[in-house]
Amino acid sequence: MSFRKDFVWGEATSAYQIEGGCYNTGKGLDIWDVFCKEKGKVYEGHTGDIACDHYHRFKEDVALMKELGIKAYRFSINWARVFPNGTGEVNQEGLKFYHDLVDELCNAGIEPFITLYHWELPYEIYKKGGWLNREIVEWFSDYAKFIVEEFSDKVTKYFTLNEPQCFVGLGFLNGVHAPGIKLPIRDTFLMAHNALMSHGMAVKKMREAAKQDIQIGIAPTGTMSYPDSDKKEDIEAARIHLMSANEDLYNWTWNVTWWSDPIFFGEYPKEAVELYKDYLPEITKEDMELISQPIDFYGQNIYNGHRVKMGENGKPEVVKRYDGFPKTALGWPVTPECLYWGPYFLYERYKKPIYITENGLSCHDTISLDGKVHDPNRIDFVSRYLSQLKKASEDGVDIRGYFHWSLLDNFEWNSGYADRFGMIYVDYPTQKRIIKDSGYWYKKVIEENGENL
Ligand code: FCB
Repeated sequence: MSFRKDFVWGEATSAYQIEGGCYNTGKGLDIWDVFCKEKGKVYEGHTGDIACDHYHRFKEDVALMKELGIKAYRFSINWARVFPNGTGEVNQEGLKFYHDLVDELCNAGIEPFITLYHWELPYEIYKKGGWLNREIVEWFSDYAKFIVEEFSDKVTKYFTLNEPQCFVGLGFLNGVHAPGIKLPIRDTFLMAHNALMSHGMAVKKMREAAKQDIQIGIAPTGTMSYPDSDKKEDIEAARIHLMSANEDLYNWTWNVTWWSDPIFFGEYPKEAVELYKDYLPEITKEDMELISQPIDFYGQNIYNGHRVKMGENGKPEVVKRYDGFPKTALGWPVTPECLYWGPYFLYERYKKPIYITENGLSCHDTISLDGKVHDPNRIDFVSRYLSQLKKASEDGVDIRGYFHWSLLDNFEWNSGYADRFGMIYVDYPTQKRIIKDSGYWYKKVIEENGENL
């Protein structure tokens, strides 16, 4: 079997990156609204105030998805759009927007996959300590429960957190992302623990609130590792490398097992606990029980990986990339093997069905003289990556779906609009959408369920 017959071919986005509609819509501030207004934080002072204006143009965007034959759409709900203060009063206009979007998707035959937290922390929650305050476990899970009460008659697939590695590491350790501060390492471990407990409590309350069976996962990220050769010892080296703790404390969040072992095994990885022990908060048995609520699938955002071989000292060794190694416009290495070995190792360890919740690249796309957007690099990249994923599926990894990042060009966080990740080009001055060559190519891939790869 190559891809399953019911393989989920999708596109992904997130609320702040595409919606706009930040004013006069009843939306509360989130940390990105505030961060973007601080001088020097985001490329050329760009903000998500208007973004792709998806808030007003979602019907057109859903129609485009339908044209591309997309089966599923992963998007996030902006917590502060629904609860302007994070808790308490609901912004009816914001809630209606998500209902309208979901209805539009369902009518178009596109399955919605909702992400509850793609980094839009309500500013009011941030002011109360945000992820540092243990009360967030209640705040977040109440929000999650509310969303499930509202949507579970129509939506059955949910992700709790998107890339905790990023929102803790980039937001609070090196300060490149909102809220743009550098906290002591100790605090970031407390945040991580609170985030995992928020996930667990959310899973619990979501299941209780659901109107029908729902499936819940999480969407972490990480740089994958893949072996330098087919030799057993290189495969073992890549496996160890992927699952090890990062010894660089200022980059500790870039780690698979710290986040996923607690969820699936109910404990933090021992080797990492030993390494980080001076920085850890109090962790109780009850906390771990909460974190390890059973979930239904493993989402993983995968963009690239390290080539790894077994070193002469019997330890994994990262192989240096050769000069001129292929890279994307954002400078990320092009390493298709990570879409074979990443899912392979993750499935081997966690034994859960896998969705690739994000994968894609930024290109320097422009509108050509013929009025079209030609993006051969994207076709080449996605084609190489998907071929690897197909091979993993053929080798028995339970892969349920693939969400390309992204449907539209959008606000790429601190890079603003400088990077274009979409299969649909957005001409920001006019908000005109143009399907790129890759979009038409992806349509064919979907039609043939990947047999043409
Ligand atoms: C991921 C984010 C997503 C997007 C892509 C390029 O880390 O989850 O929002 O920015 O990278």
